[in-house]
Amino acid sequence: MERSDTLVELKDIVVSFGKKEKKKTVLNGITFTIGRGEIVGLAGESGSGKSTIAKAILGMVPVESGNITLNTKAPQMVFQDPYSSLNPAKTIGWIMQEPLKLAPNRDPEAKIPDADTRKAKVAEMLREVGLDESYMAHKPRELSGGQRQRICIGTALMTEPELLIADEPVSALDVTIQAQVLALMKELHEKKNLAMLFISHDLRTMYHFCDRILILNKGRIVEEGAPDTLYRDPKEEYTKLLLKSAGISKT
Ligand SMILES: Nc1ncnc2c1ncn2[C@@H]1O[C@H](COP(=O)(O)OP(=O)(O)O)[C@@H](O)[C@H]1O
Ligand SMILES: [Mg+2]
Repeated sequence: MERSDTLVELKDIVVSFGKKEKKKTVLNGITFTIGRGEIVGLAGESGSGKSTIAKAILGMVPVESGNITLNTKAPQMVFQDPYSSLNPAKTIGWIMQEPLKLAPNRDPEAKIPDADTRKAKVAEMLREVGLDESYMAHKPRELSGGQRQRICIGTALMTEPELLIADEPVSALDVTIQAQVLALMKELHEKKNLAMLFISHDLRTMYHFCDRILILNKGRIVEEGAPDTLYRDPKEEYTKLLLKSAGISKT
């Protein structure tokens, strides 16, 4: 595979749910790219289609028309709710090893590393997400929300993806914990040149975090730009509305 600087390209993506008179078009011609190492923000109200875009990139919803080109191995996902996205019956060590065990499902050439290697990789990843190897023995319920989201991020990074899709990754956390988890994500982005699709309904958290922000309204991208430009001089009424509801706009 040729090394491309565009990791993913969406072109005119249309997604609908339901049939005939109940058919509802949720994405209506979505076009954008995510470059290597780029943090692209996707902002919009609840129900605007943000999660559907994430699922379309991961092949989890059928695309009616348009094209998605992935120039990278499987992107990984971090979800909003760190409580439900970790198997409560398993230890953190088991959970974090799982992506390594599943590697041959994605790539028949891939070999499962032996148990010692897997354990060493988990220990290293735990340190990278600001925890330590003692967490391996714990169950998810013994951890705080912030610690659990660190585990989710670490688990997503076990296969060394170049692209992380983070769907409201801090929305379920307390404000101070949000800042800590965002700082961790930024640090990992810088260290690994990790690209992200950062989904949020809150433009405040996105300003410092994203290189570029897409504004989604009812399944269409209505405006996009670098945070500076977009926040200073929004063109669309909908963008102004979002800024206002985030307490950012001047008027
Ligand atoms: N599997 C599904 N079946 C039917 N409707 C769906 C499905 N998934 C999402 N929707 C609808 O699509 C719209 C967009 O949903 P979603 O992408 O989850 O929005 P967001 O993440 O921005 O809140 C909503 O109206 C939602 O009810
Ligand atoms: Mg959503």
